[in-house]
Amino acid sequence: MRIRKAVIPAAGLGTRMLPITKSMPKEMLPIVDKPVIHYVVEEAVKAGIDDILIITGKGKRAIEDYFDRSFELEFYLREKGKLEELKQIEEIGEMVDIYYVRQKKPLGLGDAILHAEKHVNGGPFAVLLGDDIIVSQKPGIKQLIDVAEKRKVPVIGVESVPRELVNKYGIVDGEPIEEGLYIVRHLVEKPSIQEAPSNVAIIGRYILTPEIFDALRETPPGRGGEIQLTDALQILLPSQEIFAKEIKGERYDVGSKLGFVIANLKLSLQRGEMRNEMLGFLKSILREIPDE
Ligand code: UTP
Repeated sequence: MRIRKAVIPAAGLGTRMLPITKSMPKEMLPIVDKPVIHYVVEEAVKAGIDDILIITGKGKRAIEDYFDRSFELEFYLREKGKLEELKQIEEIGEMVDIYYVRQKKPLGLGDAILHAEKHVNGGPFAVLLGDDIIVSQKPGIKQLIDVAEKRKVPVIGVESVPRELVNKYGIVDGEPIEEGLYIVRHLVEKPSIQEAPSNVAIIGRYILTPEIFDALRETPPGRGGEIQLTDALQILLPSQEIFAKEIKGERYDVGSKLGFVIANLKLSLQRGEMRNEMLGFLKSILREIPDE
């Protein structure tokens, strides 16, 4: 099993980030100076992915423009001698082969994944959601690819979350087989805190096999009237072993307002050119805030 293709679903409405997402795809929101989706594509490329399918929808043209060549801008930067900027812009257009397919109605993540069936053409594939940015030594999705290639099964990326947050995630009931690795027994999408079988939460990274498409077709609309990927994986479980792997690294939930602001703060501190000024600024505002 070799995983070379990835799917990035980006057709959701992003209602948690309204009003900005009224006219701007959430995948294009900036984290310091790059849109969220740039970090996600970089993670995939570093993991050896060489073919990416982005599922887009209404109002998402800015994503295609971002990864396209921009001859006018390149000409202008060359004329002005801004060669560093020129190099940066050219590199974006050359990172990887990117294809697009449109989901006509936002019927859920599961429905978005169904749109990838032709493109993946019978092979296993990675899925990366733009809601999560993962900063880690070994790319988050590569941690899953290694398990999937060894065991030849679908793998779900997970993280232990505080118990009071389980109702925001798909939750895994799994049998631990080694440090950070589980065989999935049962999955449940956004359970109540009382009903949750564990605090092992699904984050936005998966390795899937083509069997998922039939399962998705069988999946009735679930929470919010949407076709849920978690429900389709649950349908697959009796006939297919599925693993869950804890992803090591720092995860930023950039699909929520607080997570988005935290990601900007933390990632700006990782930029050498702004770290000291940013730290100075943070210390000064902390001094201004009285103890509560
Ligand atoms: P979310 O459940 O976060 O939905 O989708 P959303 O619409 O993006 O955001 P909120 O919750 O309303 O703020 C998880 C992933 O699935 C994609 C999203 O783009 C996101 O990457 N998605 C969701 C689709 O591609 N199509 C859909 O119909 C729904």
